[in-house]
Amino acid sequence: MSKKRKIVITTALPYANGPIHLGHLVEHTMVDFWTRFQRMRGHECLFLCADDTHGTPIMLNAKKEGITPEQLIERSRTEHLADFAGFGIEHDHYGSTHSASNQRIANMIFEALDKNGHIETKTLKQAYCEHDKMFLPDRFIKGACPKCGAVDQYGDGCEVCGAVYATQDLKNPHCSLCKNTPVNKDSQHLFVKLQGFRPFLKDWVANHTSAEIAKKLDEWLEGDLQSWCISRDAPYFGFEIPGHPGKYFYVWFDAPVGYLAALDDWAQKRGLTYQSYWNDPEAERYHCIGKDIVYHHSLFWPSMLKAAGLATPNEILVHGMLQVNGAKMSKSRGTFVLAETFRKHLDPVYFRYYMGCKLSSTIDDIDLSFEDFVARVNSDLIGKITNVASRGAQMLQKMNVGIGTLSAEGRKLVSEAQALEAEIAKHYEARDFAKAVVLIRSIADEANKYFDAHEPWKLVKQDIPATREVLTGILNLFRIMAVYIKPILPSYVERVEKLFQEGPYTWASAQQTLENHALAPFEHLLKRIEMPSIEAILNETKEILASYQQKAAPQPGGEAALGLAPTIGIEDFQKLDLRVVKIIDVREVPGAAKLLQLTLDLGHGVTRNVFSGIKATYRPEDLIGKMTVMVANLAPRKMKFGVSEGMVLASGDGEKLAVLFPDKNAEPGQRIS
Ligand code: MSP
Ligand code: ZN
Repeated sequence: MSKKRKIVITTALPYANGPIHLGHLVEHTMVDFWTRFQRMRGHECLFLCADDTHGTPIMLNAKKEGITPEQLIERSRTEHLADFAGFGIEHDHYGSTHSASNQRIANMIFEALDKNGHIETKTLKQAYCEHDKMFLPDRFIKGACPKCGAVDQYGDGCEVCGAVYATQDLKNPHCSLCKNTPVNKDSQHLFVKLQGFRPFLKDWVANHTSAEIAKKLDEWLEGDLQSWCISRDAPYFGFEIPGHPGKYFYVWFDAPVGYLAALDDWAQKRGLTYQSYWNDPEAERYHCIGKDIVYHHSLFWPSMLKAAGLATPNEILVHGMLQVNGAKMSKSRGTFVLAETFRKHLDPVYFRYYMGCKLSSTIDDIDLSFEDFVARVNSDLIGKITNVASRGAQMLQKMNVGIGTLSAEGRKLVSEAQALEAEIAKHYEARDFAKAVVLIRSIADEANKYFDAHEPWKLVKQDIPATREVLTGILNLFRIMAVYIKPILPSYVERVEKLFQEGPYTWASAQQTLENHALAPFEHLLKRIEMPSIEAILNETKEILASYQQKAAPQPGGEAALGLAPTIGIEDFQKLDLRVVKIIDVREVPGAAKLLQLTLDLGHGVTRNVFSGIKATYRPEDLIGKMTVMVANLAPRKMKFGVSEGMVLASGDGEKLAVLFPDKNAEPGQRIS
C-alpha cells in the first residue's frame, strides 16, 4: 500500500436560506463516497463543510418571519444536519460562516490583501430604497424588460424573452419589497484588484482545474479582469470590515473562508492549527463544487489565499447539475425535491446507489429519472446484487451449516472478482463512480450465472456438500462486492458485515476468501422500492411548492398582475397555423405523470402525434372522438417519450389544463384565424 495521504476535501457551503434539496446531495454524496473510499484504503481524509449564513436574503427573510438572522441560521443548521445525517453523509466538521473562526480568518485575509496593495476604493452609484433605507441588490429590483417590455422582471434578465441586461437598464424600476422607485445614491466600496493576480491565475488555472473548465476561465483571464467588489453597505447580515465602519464583507468574500474556519474548528479540538494542516506540503486540498460557482473558486479564492500566504487548492472538482425527470430542478416545474421529502418516504440508501450509478468526473448534467431510478434499484441492487446473497444465506441456514469450502470453479470466480480491485480503485480515485459500479455489478452477473448454472434449489435434494460449495462461492462473490461498494452503501454493508460476523471491512478485505465460517442469523438486507413511495415523494413535493407560492409576495394589480407577454403584430399572429383536429386516439404515457399522447386527425388522411400535459384533467375516453384546436405548424420537438408534432390549445393554471373545444360544426383541417 502506498504512503498514507493527508487530504482535506470540501463541498460548497449550502446557503442557510433554504432547505437541502436533491441537487445539493450530488456533491455531498460524491465527496462522501470518495472520503469513505480513501479511509478504507488507510488514508487520512477530512470532509469539511459549513452553512453559508450571510447576505441580504437571509437578513430579509428573518425580518419577514419576525426572528433574528441568528435564529434563522440556527434553525437551518439543525435541518441541514438532520438531512445530511439521514443520507449517511458524514462530515468531519460542519461549521458556519457566522463563527468567530471565520471572522478572524476573513479579517486576516482582507488585511493581507490590503497590506499588499490589492485593495482599491471606488465610488459606486447604486439603487437605494428611501423607504426601506437600504441599497438594493439586483435581485431586489424589478421592472420592465428593456428589450421586450415584459413587466415585473428581475434586474439580471428577462424570463419572458430571455434577454440578459444590467439592473440599471430596467424600465420603471421598483423596489421588490415596497414597490417604490429607488433613487441612485453614491457609496464608497472596496474592491480586490484582480488584474494584479492575472499572471498567477493564468498559471494556477491551467494546472489546477480540468481542461474543460480552464478553457472557460481563460476567456475571462484574457478579458479586462475587472476588480471584484467585496463590500456591502449596512444594513447587512455579515461581518463588518475592519477599519471600514458601516461596510460589511460581501457574502462571497467570507463564504470560502468558511472552508478554513471549518478546518480551524476541527484542528483546535485536536490542539492543532488550520495552517499546520492546510499549508503542510504533503497535504492535498480539494474543493468539490457545482459548475455554477466556478469563478468564485478558481479566480477569487486562489487570489485570496495567495495574498494571505496560504496554500492554494490542489484541484477544484466540478460536477454538473442534477435534473429531475429530464428537467432542470425548479420550483415552478415541481421538480424541486427536498432531501427531507425523499427520506420521509424512501430509505436514502437508494439515492446513494443511484448516484453511484450516475456520477462521473465530467461536468455533464445528471438526470434523476424516477422511472430509471426504480428500475436500477429494483433490478440491479435488489434483483442482481441482494437477492442472490439472501437466497444463498437463507439456503445455508436451512441446511443448518455456515460457509464451507470453495470448488475449483468457485475459487476461479472469486479470484477474478478479487483481480478487479485495482481497476475499481482507479475509478473511485478518479470519481468515476458509475464506472466502478459497472464493474461491481459485473461480479453480480457472474454470481447469478454461477447460481443458475448449478440450480442449488434442485441440487440440494441430491447433493448437500455440492450445494454448500456453490453457495460458498456465491456468498464469497457477494462479500467481495460488498467490500467494493461499501463507500457508496455503508449502512447496507454494515448489515453484510453483521451477516458474515466480521468487519469493519477495509479495501484489503476483498482479497480475503471466506471458508468454513459461521453466518449470523439472516436478516433482510434491503427491500424493493414500491411505486407508492415515489408517488408520495412527488405529491408531497407539489404540496410544498404550492405552499411556497402562497407565501410569495402578492403581485401588483392591473396589467402588471397579468404579466402580459410583449405585443406582437398581426403578421406574427398570421404565422400561427391553427387547425381544427379530431382526437382519434389517446394513450397514457408510461412514466409520465402529466402527459397524454394524442393522435390527431387533420383531415385528408393526415395525422399528428402530440404529447399534451392534460392527464390531470382527462381520461383518454373523455377525449377520443372530440374535436379540438392545434398549432399545426409548430416545429416537431423531441421529448423524452417521443417526438411531439404540434400542440393542442388548452388553458388552465399549469396543473389542471382544459382543452379548447371548437364549435360542434367544425371540420378537421379547418383553419382558425
Ligand atoms: N453558498 C454558495 C456556495 C459557497 S461555497 C464557498 C452556494 N450555495 S448553494 O446552496 O446555492 O449551492 C451549494 C452547492 O450545491 C453548489 O456547489 C451548487 O452547485 C450545488 N447545487 C445546487 N443545486 C444543484 C443542482 N441542481 N445539482 C447539482 N448541484 C447543485 O452556491
Ligand atoms: Zn423598498
